[in-house]
Amino acid sequence: MAGGQVQRPSMEIIIKPDYEAMSREAALIVGRVIREGPRPVIGLATGSTPEGMYHELVRQHRDEGLDFSRATTFNLDEYVGLAPDHPQSYHHYMRHHLFDHVNLNRDRTHLPDGLSEDIPAHCRAYEQAIVEAGGIDVQVLGIGSDGHIGFNEPSSSLGSRTRIKTLTQETIAANARFFATSEQVPRHVITMGVGTIMDSRFCLVLASGGAKADIVARAVEGPVTSMVPASALQFHPRCSLIIDEAAAAKLERAAYYRWIYDHKPDWQRV
Ligand code: GLP
Repeated sequence: MAGGQVQRPSMEIIIKPDYEAMSREAALIVGRVIREGPRPVIGLATGSTPEGMYHELVRQHRDEGLDFSRATTFNLDEYVGLAPDHPQSYHHYMRHHLFDHVNLNRDRTHLPDGLSEDIPAHCRAYEQAIVEAGGIDVQVLGIGSDGHIGFNEPSSSLGSRTRIKTLTQETIAANARFFATSEQVPRHVITMGVGTIMDSRFCLVLASGGAKADIVARAVEGPVTSMVPASALQFHPRCSLIIDEAAAAKLERAAYYRWIYDHKPDWQRV
């Protein structure tokens, strides 16, 4: 389905009552891609938002036999300078939330290497590996409070590819909650570019909670601008946002999005 012919003329906004319902819906969609593709390629995100989705995917694996053995994964980003076993590294996050609990072939799980000694070459190889895997069928995304996707901070080129980025102070402050002090948050990261993300056949954005309501509205209903990198997704031919009521609170046309979703023809449903 991820490579299907449906080319949505607009972002699909799916409003769920709460975080749990958002997570279940996202896991249903990702689980379907994993089940149906002969060699599914899944783009993965970190942050607190997708934790519930991973929990639900692990449950599907355990209780319903969801088989990850044919899947390949690519993560969006990683901190520069953190070793894979660092508790705040995204390598560690992925093992903790997903990899240790499902039958993924570890040789086919990919994250940028935060300890790479030649970052530009590593970034080129990461892009190449995505191409060689056949491209990403579904890319899961969270959204930063400053509008970043992956770690593409405001002013990122909307055509950017995998590269090193310097975090904004806002993101450092937001992610300091995972570290003992904000000084310990790495200043640099390796992230897929906005262009890399836009090449995915399907983008699935998750957002939850009132703190994301402003940025969700700007990304969906505001102008497309590199000041809000998530707004580039307005150009994506196939992008669904699954958000909870709190994150939807500032959307001017929420009633219309609900109307569209309720009247969606069955053949268009994922
Ligand atoms: C992090 C990640 C993003 C994530 C975002 C939001 O810094 N690099 O991929 O989507 O910020 O995080 P959270 O889901 O915790 O709000």
